[in-house]
Amino acid sequence: MSSERLSGLNALVTAAGNGIGKAVALRFAREGAKVVAVDIDGGALDGLGQPGIAPLVLDATDPEAVDAAVRAHGPFDVLVNGVGYVHHGTVLDCGPDEWRRSFALNVDTMYNTLRAVLPGMIERGGGSVINIASAASSLKGFPNRAAYGATKAAVIGLTKAVAVDHISQGVRCNAICPGTVESPSLAARMKELGRQMGGEDEARKAFVARQPMGRLGTPEEIAAMAVYLASPEASFTTGQALIIDGGILA
Ligand SMILES: NC(=O)c1ccc[n+]([C@@H]2O[C@H](COP(=O)([O-])OP(=O)(O)OC[C@H]3O[C@@H](n4cnc5c(N)ncnc54)[C@H](O)[C@@H]3O)[C@@H](O)[C@H]2O)c1
Repeated sequence: MSSERLSGLNALVTAAGNGIGKAVALRFAREGAKVVAVDIDGGALDGLGQPGIAPLVLDATDPEAVDAAVRAHGPFDVLVNGVGYVHHGTVLDCGPDEWRRSFALNVDTMYNTLRAVLPGMIERGGGSVINIASAASSLKGFPNRAAYGATKAAVIGLTKAVAVDHISQGVRCNAICPGTVESPSLAARMKELGRQMGGEDEARKAFVARQPMGRLGTPEEIAAMAVYLASPEASFTTGQALIIDGGILA
């Protein structure tokens, strides 16, 4: 489905090589946006070679590289922060390195892109920032998501802070909080968990059991919300953590 809802907008999407970020990049381009699609994995970007999408290999944890990319390809009207990493375990299972890694990938990447992209948005009179958080965050505790939940709660806090600080400059900032969504990293987590549970099917059943709708979400369902938040249709919406979770938090 396409209706050119993002016509004329310049968008930066991180983690665009797989899962939610990829679906966002493809849908944004179909809606008329020009998309710079960033991923650390160049091979993952191969599937994005189509009109409207400029693939860019970039490590979003590297502030200088992010600055240089934004100087070269910006300014941007829309920023979608998609990088995220799931540590599986309780706080006792999470050593300092994994704790730091969780924050470096899930929060510092957003700090880096915000500091690079916001000045251009402010100069142009506004923009829309969309941070991918999670239902596992300040919204709800999930077993074995201590580090992940802490980072995604930080994402919601950062989202609200940016929203209030830059509201008078025309910048909107919202978070999307998905439930469990089909993606390559979820497949890897199912494989890993399957080893402890006696099979991948059992692991899949456990993930589906968390979803009151009885199924996992699709990246395209999340991308639809991102299109809305990026577009002028959402011009009165800022500082919100929008939940799209198959009924977990219903
Ligand atoms: N899949 C889910 O069930 C789910 C649920 C809630 C929230 N989320 C969040 O959605 C976002 C996307 O997750 P997903 O599961 O759809 O995708 P994914 O985890 O399968 O893919 C993430 C992509 O990010 C890229 N990446 C990793 N480190 C990077 C870096 N430093 N710089 C640039 N790119 C980097 C990877 O190469 C990969 O292509 C994450 O923030 C995740 O926490 C996912």
